[in-house]
Amino acid sequence: MIPDVRAAFDVERVRADFPILSRTVRGRRLVYLDNAATTQKPASVVDAISRYYTGINANVHRGVHELSELATDAYERARERVRAYFNAGSRREVVFTRNATEGINLVAHAFARPLLKPGDEVLISAMEHHSNIVPWQLACAATGAQLVVAPISDDGELDLSAVDRLIGPRTRLVAMTHMSNALGTVTPAADIVRLAHAKGVPVLLDGSQAAYHMPVDVRALDVDFYVATGHKLYGPTGIGVLYGRASLLGEMEPFLGGGDMIASVTFQRSTWNELPYKFEAGTPHIAGAIGLHAALDYIDSVGLDRIVEHERSLLEYGTAVLQNIPGVRIIGTARSKGSILSFVMDGVHPHDIGTIVDREGVAIRTGHHCAQPVMERFGVPATARASLAMYNTTADLDALGDALARVREVFA
Ligand SMILES: Cc1ncc(COP(=O)(O)O)c(C=O)c1O
Repeated sequence: MIPDVRAAFDVERVRADFPILSRTVRGRRLVYLDNAATTQKPASVVDAISRYYTGINANVHRGVHELSELATDAYERARERVRAYFNAGSRREVVFTRNATEGINLVAHAFARPLLKPGDEVLISAMEHHSNIVPWQLACAATGAQLVVAPISDDGELDLSAVDRLIGPRTRLVAMTHMSNALGTVTPAADIVRLAHAKGVPVLLDGSQAAYHMPVDVRALDVDFYVATGHKLYGPTGIGVLYGRASLLGEMEPFLGGGDMIASVTFQRSTWNELPYKFEAGTPHIAGAIGLHAALDYIDSVGLDRIVEHERSLLEYGTAVLQNIPGVRIIGTARSKGSILSFVMDGVHPHDIGTIVDREGVAIRTGHHCAQPVMERFGVPATARASLAMYNTTADLDALGDALARVREVFA
């Protein structure tokens, strides 16, 4: 029988592809558990960026010379790669942005603002990142519309029946996370879309966390807008993705004006370039798109299905590690959960937890995680958060457990 070489997940082999993981911090092995903030980069991503700058650097869509053609080709192949990753129907529906935040702001400005009238509503959930709250607040303030917030349970699960109830005749858009960065909750995205569409309301999903932890198929979800951010997808910072249904993008006015997004310009009036260029004003982050292409290739070479399985078993292991430490309470215990462990410890401020575990070489995040309303919902000022990626190991989680035991000693 031919062995299935893809079946086994060789985490050490994966780790070897990430140069930074072999460095030390504070004189100790780096235990990187801050992946929800940003993931580390495989060498192939860094190499792809370097090859672009050393081999084919030129501006795109502008020149007739060979380097410009090569750069344009690489940039557009990156778009095709993103299209395939999210299974969008067409490259016209894939807009490169700076990050997820810019994607949401683009939709808030170019789609929501012209649509919203006084008394209209935008529905979000109680577990959104600030990036999926503030742009809607700004749009509501400018138009007289209102922000409506769907509640979550004590486990951090979205109340789907409340979502259904809250989508009313004044709802113009539903904007919700696909996975919470503060709780780990994976939301029932397809159900949200189904409920909203049943009432003729379009949906934006914030896939910043979901996109590197699970397969995302925008056509199967039937979602109208989907945003993701490259630096969490093992790619570079400064590059993000907005998927938008072509029929909606086509109707929208531009977000930013300038070079590349126009078909013609006179002092009297300008006309707009075709999709998706209408939404890409100015020189884009060419190297970033190329780096993102390499990152998505890397994810696929490891296998997203195997990453999902590896992270699921790590989450189980990490949950048990935390549950074994006296006084630790996990915030976010949804049944459907990605590999994020938010927690508090009796009598210790999360900031002190972060500082002490850092001395042991363990990098976690502490604070409100850009989700202050979530902290308020759970009655805590902040949490400590360990978040996992494909290269983490049970040894990393043991190191976290040992470092937290040290915290307990310090505060005994
Ligand atoms: C759920 C969620 N939405 C949005 C963002 C914003 O991502 P970016 O800062 O890359 O735009 C983040 C980043 O932490 C996030 O976790």
